[in-house]
Amino acid sequence: MKALVLAGGSGTRLRPITHTSSKQLVPVANKPILFYGLEAIAEAGITEVGVVVGSTAAEIQAAVGDGSAFGLRVTYIPQSEPLGLAHAVLIAQPFLGDDDFVMYLGDNFVMDGITDVVEEFRKDRRDAHILLTRVADPSAFGVAVTDADGRVTELAEKPRHPRSDLAVAGVYLFTPVVHDAVRAIRPSARGELEITDALQWMIDHRLAVHSTVITGYWKDTGNVTDMLEVNRTLLERVEPRVDGFVDDESEIIGRVRIEAGAEVRRSRIVGPAVIGAGSVVTDSYIGPSTSVAENCRITSTEIEYSIVLRDSSFDRIRRVEASLVGRNVKVTLAPRLPATHRLVIGDHGQVQLSS
Ligand code: DAU
Repeated sequence: MKALVLAGGSGTRLRPITHTSSKQLVPVANKPILFYGLEAIAEAGITEVGVVVGSTAAEIQAAVGDGSAFGLRVTYIPQSEPLGLAHAVLIAQPFLGDDDFVMYLGDNFVMDGITDVVEEFRKDRRDAHILLTRVADPSAFGVAVTDADGRVTELAEKPRHPRSDLAVAGVYLFTPVVHDAVRAIRPSARGELEITDALQWMIDHRLAVHSTVITGYWKDTGNVTDMLEVNRTLLERVEPRVDGFVDDESEIIGRVRIEAGAEVRRSRIVGPAVIGAGSVVTDSYIGPSTSVAENCRITSTEIEYSIVLRDSSFDRIRRVEASLVGRNVKVTLAPRLPATHRLVIGDHGQVQLSS
């Protein structure tokens, strides 16, 4: 069995972060979201992985390499444009051949991995098997209707009037018959070859599409709110340890990881939180559910429930909350008078000022 990991796409809901980098590489608890998926695939006993890449191919390849760090053998499959999840399967056919495979969306997070569903699929070997999860707003997802045995009877992509609360989570298991389906379907109204349409084609042709409803934690990290929420959840599992330097005047409370080479001086860090390698926190408060990546400078600042990417700095900022801050960002206090904000913000930035 092989795996197909989707790491292309455009990431419009995470702009401006995704203007310069891939959405699948935004770190949660200081590790790219994509890596959790690759680890889950390796854990399920799969080693041959095709990674579909788009405009951020170079960055993904630099991060994942040949896959050996995960115990995987990775083949890159370039997709010229994000033409849909079923399009990704279409172009991956030479790699997939006649093998069964699991398709994993690179921006999705499944807390307990995929080993159980991979085993169930291997045992029963239905034509297709998908993961579903109950959500409050199904209209943002693919939505499935199932019978009492978990057989999928109907699917719709982001329907305005969902027929159930069962969202399609980003893990799909396929036998090679899916290749007939992706060749048969036509682009949807949004111009994409939809995997939900391919699955519906299979249902219409009396093929067995089965489902497992996951009860554990699952999130699509396509927007900032979900990203912060996954970060919070993962930080709750972080192993507390101090590999960096913490001075006597600092206080570390709860589940906190201070990575090697990081320095904490005259500060209070309340977990769950991680401070990345080489970062320096001085006269500051880092509150719960915060990840500070590598080589950041946090000085006389309060940050809570946020993700700060590498090489960024905050200097004398009273309080920052629920924020996703990109790489190499500098946030400083304006001179006292005139009382004004001075901003250099990239396209599609979002700023909320408290005064
Ligand atoms: O997250 C679950 C949802 O994922 C499902 O409920 C939907 O049925 C499914 O269509 C999908 O919806 P999204 O709109 O969230 O998909 P998105 O465009 O974000 O793409 C998912 C991943 O696949 C993401 O890592 C980018 C990658 N991708 C996407 C497209 C359209 C590709 O690599 N190539 C593509 O052509």
